[in-house]
Amino acid sequence: MNSKPDNNDSADRPMIRVQNLYKQFGEINAVNGISFQVNKGETYGLLGPNGAGKTTTMRMLSALSPLTSGSIEVGDMNVSERGREVREILGVVTQHDGHDSGLTVLQNLTLHGYLEGLSRKKSKERAIEVLTFFGLEDRQSSNVYELSGGMKRRLAISRALLTQPPVVVLDEPTTGLDPQSRNRVWEQLAVMKRAGVTVLMSTHYMEEAATLCDRLSIMDHGKILAEGAPDDLVEEHAGQEVAQVRTSSDSALSELRDRLAETSFRLIEVGAIATVTSQNGKRPDVSGIAGVRATFRPGNLEDVFISLTGRELRDE
Ligand SMILES: Nc1ncnc2c1ncn2[C@@H]1O[C@H](COP(=O)(O)OP(=O)(O)OP(=O)(O)O)[C@@H](O)[C@H]1O
Ligand SMILES: [Mg+2]
Repeated sequence: MNSKPDNNDSADRPMIRVQNLYKQFGEINAVNGISFQVNKGETYGLLGPNGAGKTTTMRMLSALSPLTSGSIEVGDMNVSERGREVREILGVVTQHDGHDSGLTVLQNLTLHGYLEGLSRKKSKERAIEVLTFFGLEDRQSSNVYELSGGMKRRLAISRALLTQPPVVVLDEPTTGLDPQSRNRVWEQLAVMKRAGVTVLMSTHYMEEAATLCDRLSIMDHGKILAEGAPDDLVEEHAGQEVAQVRTSSDSALSELRDRLAETSFRLIEVGAIATVTSQNGKRPDVSGIAGVRATFRPGNLEDVFISLTGRELRDE
């Protein structure tokens, strides 16, 4: 056998390793001791509400912001020591697009590719390829400031993918996009996945997380509350089926509370909606209580978040 242990080692090594990561802004613990790993070729999500620490984590990982403590490795490189080299293998889409003003869409992309080491010819070819994919080919002569918000977002993603980087970091890639553009981004992510690209993305759209991510972390207040494959998280924390309950009186509600108190089912009341989740995979039993009506639906990542925090993810 002509085995090469070094190569095998690097094939098995996670592409991203985050260990005991902290970031403080004054009194704020924006990232409060998180650890996770992303394997090569995996799409990994950070799902959490506003202020959870997603952007702060991704900025540290992209060597755009120093770590307070802990460590991050991308490939075999420590981000704190080799930030420049890390940035060379990353395609990064930041939450707020920063485009060079005064350039056309095509010039913007071509210049970016050229600065990243592509020949002028190759850079232009790739620019037209990605613009076509994202439906921006007929805006290639527009000035960047003339684009709509959604088009700017698509341009930012086109730019990150231009040089076909092995690791892509996408901070809320589809926020503000219309459904058609969102689908294009999802499609492009699927193409990248088939090509073996490692993706770290953040989102607060649970549907996006469930569709795209092989595994994800649910983040809140700088911490990871749960980690796993979307289906496993739902199964473990919410159940395949949850009951959405309406009660006709306070006494019916308190009877329901009493009934569930002795079981592994949980009653979670958020605003006017009461949801019954299970942690053992069984369908919640809320039958036989006068004034209680239940409809059943499949559990989802929003239920997981509610079950872990008692709050909504606000998946608008
Ligand atoms: N430069 C900064 N200076 C001070 N505080 C900051 C800074 N950047 C982020 N924070 C704080 O860190 C916390 C985490 O913010 P972060 O932007 O990482 O959240 P997020 O999960 O990306 O939220 P969103 O979904 O709104 O984008 C917040 O409390 C935020 O106010
Ligand atoms: Mg953010």
